[in-house]
Amino acid sequence: MIKDIPEKMLIELSRLITTHTGLYFPEKKWNALNKGIKSVINDLDTDIHQLFQSLNSSPSKEIVDALTTRLTIGETYFLRDKNFFQILQDHILRGIIEHPKRNTKRIIFWSAGCATGEEPYSIAILIDQMSYLLKNWDITIIASDINPVALNKARKGIYSNWSLRGTPEKIIKKYFTPTTANYFKIAPHIRQMVDFRQLNFMDDNYPASLNFYEAMDIILCRNVLMYFNEQGRNRALQKLSKLVIDNGWLITGPAESGFVNLPEFTSVRFPNAQYYRKGPPRKPIKNPQAIRISRKDHSTRLIEPSHAGKRFTDKKYVRRISDGIVSRPPEKPKYDMYQDALTDYNRGDYLQSAKKLSTIVSKGANNNNSFLMKTESMILLAKSYANIGELAQAKTWCEKAIDMEKLNPEIYYLLSTIFQSAGDIDASVKSLKQSIYLDPEFIMAHFTLGMLLFQKNMPNESKKSMQNALSLLELKETEEILPYSEGMAAGRLIETIKSMKID
Ligand SMILES: C[S@@+](CC[C@H](N)C(=O)[O-])C[C@H]1O[C@@H](n2cnc3c(N)ncnc32)[C@H](O)[C@@H]1O
Repeated sequence: MIKDIPEKMLIELSRLITTHTGLYFPEKKWNALNKGIKSVINDLDTDIHQLFQSLNSSPSKEIVDALTTRLTIGETYFLRDKNFFQILQDHILRGIIEHPKRNTKRIIFWSAGCATGEEPYSIAILIDQMSYLLKNWDITIIASDINPVALNKARKGIYSNWSLRGTPEKIIKKYFTPTTANYFKIAPHIRQMVDFRQLNFMDDNYPASLNFYEAMDIILCRNVLMYFNEQGRNRALQKLSKLVIDNGWLITGPAESGFVNLPEFTSVRFPNAQYYRKGPPRKPIKNPQAIRISRKDHSTRLIEPSHAGKRFTDKKYVRRISDGIVSRPPEKPKYDMYQDALTDYNRGDYLQSAKKLSTIVSKGANNNNSFLMKTESMILLAKSYANIGELAQAKTWCEKAIDMEKLNPEIYYLLSTIFQSAGDIDASVKSLKQSIYLDPEFIMAHFTLGMLLFQKNMPNESKKSMQNALSLLELKETEEILPYSEGMAAGRLIETIKSMKID
């Protein structure tokens, strides 16, 4: 076993790795860096001094590949951040279809930092789902990553349950074929839609190394910049920005929008998100889309659609207006209703959110919402009902959400909390076990299971769950907030478990 790398050497190596890959390792990540470098030394059958020397000059591709294979974080899954895919469908793509930016019907996507391919394949699936609107459009999806092992996996297109944890059942059934236990192969026509290439954002010669010279309509660089320092981020962003077509889009991850500070881009706000369009800000239009109409009594008035973002479903409305009859304003799209419900929920008005969400989920599948946000709506509805003490309703909607996304551990966790509130500890334990089966690293599920087993007077089993939670917690940064913990940091949970003396 290689001994720990001396701190001075680790600092130097960290600096060189940042130069060659952009990956940034502040002190709190030195443990991971130390471990990663030791694996690289092993993989390359070299020693620390040779590695240092190569990095200090001009390292070979083999060395950079070995480093990125061990040091990059490739966490991703299909339809990650459904909010983004909904905006892509409802606003960005529909905007392009209505106001094409090229002379030909063409859209070029670039998933930059695609990891194992779930992101570009999700775009391909969305495009396939939108084929009724994109008929005769030529769609190109380029996907790149620095990590060669991730790219190989992406090209194969075989994924475990874990990659599909946020994917609706009906999408899994339509686009995947089960292979061996818990593995699924993506449909060949979706696989063929994506072109994978290796690219390091720190290289000087792209797009040449990408071997693709056309400007892109939509660049997704999500959850990549967060691993760089400011210098690396700016370096990557400056290059990416040159490859976006005028009026094209740059999409970052939810936590990264603050990183984009380029004069050639205008930030555009969407429900719960902010993305960047290349070009100057559009002039605000006074009375947007206001329509002058004549009434039967020959007076005239201006009417403004109550919802300016609504684009495609206004035909009926306009026709009626041209008849001179002022009809009721168009119904809000379901997706905006979801956002309204979320706002109600976040300010504690669970009754209102439940009312809106019931409308969304009860109106069947004749809306776009059914593909992306339907499960989210059911989950929020279950939570709203749980918060007003309507536990039977909460359970029903949670179970319906599970029917939609059977591989999603978070919904089983939610169901377990509902059972717990209803005093049905056995059912709660069962749901927690299902949740852990789907995500063995779900810390809060292990912890809650430990608590319930303790209550059930099963000290050995409880101890085992707490130990599982503790071993997972040790891999976290102390200040890291744990998902589903209502804001609890990893360090705090360690203290809590230890103070309970059941570990
Ligand atoms: C967390 S994944 C993001 C995957 C996907 N975009 C998503 O949001 O789900 C980050 C990816 O960035 C890639 N990456 C890191 N440094 C890079 C670099 N210098 N050039 C290109 N890709 C890089 C990593 O290999 C990793 O696959």
